[in-house]
Amino acid sequence: MSRMTFTMIKPDAVANGFTGAILDQICAGGFRIRALKMTKLSFEKAADFYSVHKARPFYGELVEFMSSGPVVAAILEREDAVESFRTLIGATNPAQAAEGTIRKRFAESLGRNAIHGSDSDENARLECSFFFSSLEMV
Ligand code: RTP
Ligand code: MG
Repeated sequence: MSRMTFTMIKPDAVANGFTGAILDQICAGGFRIRALKMTKLSFEKAADFYSVHKARPFYGELVEFMSSGPVVAAILEREDAVESFRTLIGATNPAQAAEGTIRKRFAESLGRNAIHGSDSDENARLECSFFFSSLEMV
């Protein structure tokens, strides 16, 4: 079980001005920020990041949305990072997310659901290095 996970505050939440409140909730949840940046994904980079969903009907819409505006990416550290972060963000569909979770508080809809969290230790490693070089992680 790894102590690291990767997150990205999605374009809806950044545009809605929720970046500060979301980072605050992440820190209050016991996560330490090891790397942090605001960036904007090109269509090609977003397609690559979510390529696991290439065959799914929502892929085009997802890639379009994820490249539509700035995102805030971070590497987070905590015990049992991947699973505890998925608990903190809540279900993919905010309508089904538990009360008080980040998606329940800040997401607009299933497609515009405020935040990404890695779903396994292996994907966390891949996603951290997709966004950050070793020099950018402290
Ligand atoms: P994420 O990767 O963004 O953290 O989200 P997740 O693990 O909770 O959900 P995942 O199954 O990986 O899906 C990636 C994103 O695709 C959008 N989605 N749309 N229209 C649909 O049925 C549908 N299903 C998923 C969501 O925005 C989800 O976050
Ligand atoms: Mg996912």
